[in-house]
Amino acid sequence: MTDQFIPAPSLLSADFSKLDREIADVMAGGTQWIHVDVMDGHFVPNLTIGAPVVKSLRKIQSAYLDCHLMIEEPERYIDDFIKAGANNITLHVESQGDMATLIKKIKTAGVDAGITLRPATPLSAIEPFLSEVDLVLVMTVNPGFGGQSFMEDQVAKVNELAELREANGWNYKIQVDGGVTDKTKLQLTRADVLVAGSFVFKHPQGYQQAIADLKEKS
Ligand code: DX5
Ligand code: ZN
Repeated sequence: MTDQFIPAPSLLSADFSKLDREIADVMAGGTQWIHVDVMDGHFVPNLTIGAPVVKSLRKIQSAYLDCHLMIEEPERYIDDFIKAGANNITLHVESQGDMATLIKKIKTAGVDAGITLRPATPLSAIEPFLSEVDLVLVMTVNPGFGGQSFMEDQVAKVNELAELREANGWNYKIQVDGGVTDKTKLQLTRADVLVAGSFVFKHPQGYQQAIADLKEKS
């Protein structure tokens, strides 16, 4: 769909003591997307950040705050993320609640809505929502932690999503999250947005080089 990938640096691997500078640095590399991993210690065995942090990050007006909710009960928190100024809210289909209703609520508020699934969940679980969402996230690791290895067997979902989009005239962006590097991206030519935590924030030549490496679609 796109000529270049859109890199979405995941703040999970950033230095939380200076998030504003970390974000300014990655954005200077030429991306607006900032991926915010929200974990509740129930849906995944890790606890990260919530809507108050998103509210603070909103001061960086040009950032596109892409919030990936790895939480058991998204319906309790969606309003908070909308009010905080999220640009996109992505829900896990395995979370509790009626996904169609939640997606509608997000979109009615003028916020982009995404749907995602764990690696073990078949694509058929999200098919009913594909006509409504702005983003589909393919997880290429089990959600919960940064720095895990890319699961190649999930690439088929990316390709199938691209085919379904074309066949049905749907409009979602295809995003991939987990173990993405300048090497693994070579399998992801049909994706649009690449989330990367470790690859960006631990890149030996700096964040801007990492962003440039991720953008190139060859
Ligand atoms: C994992 C998160 C990812 C994570 C990716 O549950 O959704 O966004 O930060 O980290 P890397 O790029 O290090 O695999
Ligand atoms: Zn994520």
